[in-house]
Amino acid sequence: MSKKIFSGVQPTGNLHLGNYLGAIKNFVDLNNDNQNECIFCVVDLHAITVKQEQDQLTNNIRETAATFIASGIDPSKSIIFNQSKVHAHAEGSWILSCMAPMGWLNRMTQFKEKAGKDKEKASVGLYIYPILMASDILLYDATHVPVGEDQKQHLELTRDIAQKFNKDFGCEDFLRVPEPLIKKNFSRIMSLKDGLKKMSKSDPSDLSRINLTDTKDEIINKIKKAKTDSLPIPNEYQELNERLEAKNLLGIYSSILDQTLDKTLKEFGGKNFSDLKSQLAEVLSSKISPISDEIKKLIDDQNYLDKVLAEGANKAEVIAGKKIKEMKKIIGF
Ligand code: AMP
Ligand code: TRP
Repeated sequence: MSKKIFSGVQPTGNLHLGNYLGAIKNFVDLNNDNQNECIFCVVDLHAITVKQEQDQLTNNIRETAATFIASGIDPSKSIIFNQSKVHAHAEGSWILSCMAPMGWLNRMTQFKEKAGKDKEKASVGLYIYPILMASDILLYDATHVPVGEDQKQHLELTRDIAQKFNKDFGCEDFLRVPEPLIKKNFSRIMSLKDGLKKMSKSDPSDLSRINLTDTKDEIINKIKKAKTDSLPIPNEYQELNERLEAKNLLGIYSSILDQTLDKTLKEFGGKNFSDLKSQLAEVLSSKISPISDEIKKLIDDQNYLDKVLAEGANKAEVIAGKKIKEMKKIIGF
């Protein structure tokens, strides 16, 4: 079946292995299936829900586009653009924010995590962030949205908002209710320093993550320093539930090689972590270093990146512009 794919990544710097294994690697597979229509968005309007430096934001927008392309997304097959270039995203977000009850937003756990203790100081944008995400998806009639596990709740909200809009305005099927595409396994890559924490751009320790721009030596060093425990690697899956760092490293190895955790356990069960670490460092550097080299090459070619983003925005504008027009008509504007 042909799918309409939409997904977004924030241009907030330091794209890492979690982004790659949780999301971008899937984008590439979906891009490679000729039956799909894919749209990959650099969500710069989402990025400014927390403070960004002007120059850095501009660079990060290009770097995120470069990461998409370097990972294997072909801009002649998929639309790559940045959100702020297409007006309909912000307009749709306003309309949907008038349909979505506060109670639904109050349940969003990511806001609670990101706002931290002092919620009064968080921006209103951070609070309504999931509505902008719903607007992104619904404007393109996306059928499937590939994301990491942490976005599941936002996608459920998107589905609820679409259904409520359709019901409130008696326009069944006008907003398409999208399906999440979340990998069953390894959809949540954890920090290399703490098996309880998600691998994240915002972790102050660079050793907690493998950045997609890391060199071979940096990757080897980070895997060497990754937290483990003192026991040998278990043979049984069940034992991993109490050994989160081991589970994460074995999961990363399985995910990057597209193999089951069972197979990885057969390979390493009973061995020491040094065996796993040396193999993992080798596999990661052979898969990530070429991406890293390509990102660096592309970043030097600003004209090319700006052209890809501008062409993408023109194509996106046609689709989203038509949808927002219909939406406004339904409302009575
Ligand atoms: P963000 O960088 O927050 O815009 O996230 C971009 C994509 O990467 C989203 O689909 C996230 O769900 C995914 N993602 C971010 N961090 C992780 C992680 N640690 N493990 C798996 N997926 C992740
Ligand atoms: N909220 C997503 C994240 O932080 C990024 C995002 C914005 C997104 N709009 C989207 C993902 C639309 C999928 C579809 O990871």
